[in-house]
Amino acid sequence: MMWRGLSFLAVLLVIIPPGLHANATQVREILDKLVTAILENQETCSQSCADNLIKLDNGYFLAFRITPGIQSSAYEKFMADGNSDDTDCLVFQNVPEGCKTTDGRLSCDRHYRSRILDLWDRLPIARVRVGVYKDNVEQRFFEFNGNSSNFDNWFSQSRLINNSYTDLSATQATPNFFSIVGDQAFGRPFFINNNYGGCDNDAGWLMVSDKADPPCPWEKRNTTNSYPVIFFSSANAKSIYSITNAIADTLVISVKLGNTQ
Ligand SMILES: *[C@@H]1O[C@H](CO)[C@@H](O)[C@H](O)[C@H]1NC(C)=O
Ligand SMILES: *[C@@H]1O[C@H](CO)[C@@H](O)[C@H](O)[C@H]1NC(C)=O
Ligand SMILES: *[C@@H]1O[C@H](CO)[C@@H](O)[C@H](O)[C@H]1NC(C)=O
Ligand SMILES: *[C@@H]1O[C@H](CO)[C@@H](O)[C@H](O)[C@H]1NC(C)=O
Repeated sequence: MMWRGLSFLAVLLVIIPPGLHANATQVREILDKLVTAILENQETCSQSCADNLIKLDNGYFLAFRITPGIQSSAYEKFMADGNSDDTDCLVFQNVPEGCKTTDGRLSCDRHYRSRILDLWDRLPIARVRVGVYKDNVEQRFFEFNGNSSNFDNWFSQSRLINNSYTDLSATQATPNFFSIVGDQAFGRPFFINNNYGGCDNDAGWLMVSDKADPPCPWEKRNTTNSYPVIFFSSANAKSIYSITNAIADTLVISVKLGNTQ
C-alpha cells in the first residue's frame, strides 16, 4: 500500500501546483478528478503531461508492452507497483516513441508500464486485451472481463471472453497454467499452457520466456539467450512450441474503460 500511495503522490505532483501541500481528503478528491479526467479523455487524448495515457487504434488504453530481447524481466516490471513510465512527466517524455506503439519493429529500451496498473482498483476497467503483434499486425488476441478485477488477477480462464483460438474459452480446454505469474520456477509468465511432458511435448497458446537460462532448447533463441521471448501458437488452436515456434515482436496489454459490459 505504501508504494501505491507514493505513486499516487507522484501523479499528484503533476496536477498540484508546486508549493501546495494536499491533505488526505484533498488527495482523495484529486484522485477522483484524475479518474474522471481519464474517462473524459477517451475521445480526446491530448499530449499534455497530466493526461499522457496512450490510446491505441482499437480505442483501448495502453497498460503494458513487452520488449523482447532486452535482458530484463517483463514479469518483474509488470509487478513493480509504482514503477511506471507515465507517472512522471520527464520520464514519460524521455520514453522512446516506439515504446508507446504496438509496432515491435520500432526501437524501445524497456517494458512500458502505465500507471493504469497502479490505479487499476480505482478505474472502471471493463475489458482487458492481450495482443501479440508482428510487424505491427495483431497476430492473436485474448480478451478478458476486467470488471472488479485486480491488476494481477484478470488474466484467468474464467474471465476469458473472446480469443483467436477455436479450442480455448472460459469453459473449453483445461490448461495446466493460465496466469500472469505462470510457471515461476521456469520463468514463464503470461502463460496459457495446455500441457507439459518434456520439452518436445510442451503445448499451449501463449508463453513469455522470461529468464536468461530457460529450461528448453526451443526457448534459447541464440547463443546470447536474449530474453524475454514471446511465443504464441500460430495455428488456430494450441500447438507444440518446439514445432510451431511462432515469435511475436511485442505483446501489448490494453484496457477499455467504462462501465458497459
Ligand atoms: C484538508 O484541507 C482542506 C482545505 O484546506 C480543509 O478544508 C480540510 O478540513 C482538511 N482536512 C483535513 C482532514 O485536514
Ligand atoms: C540474439 O537474439 C537477440 C534478440 O532476438 C538479437 O537482438 C541478437 O542480435 C541475437 N544475437 C545473435 C548472435 O544472433
Ligand atoms: C461487476 O461486478 C460487480 C461485483 O461482482 C457486480 O455487482 C456488477 O454488476 C458487475 N458489473 C457489470 C457491468 O457486470
Ligand atoms: C470475438 O472476436 C472476433 C474476432 O475479432 C470478433 O469477430 C467477434 O465479434 C468477437 N466476439 C465477441 C463476442 O466479442
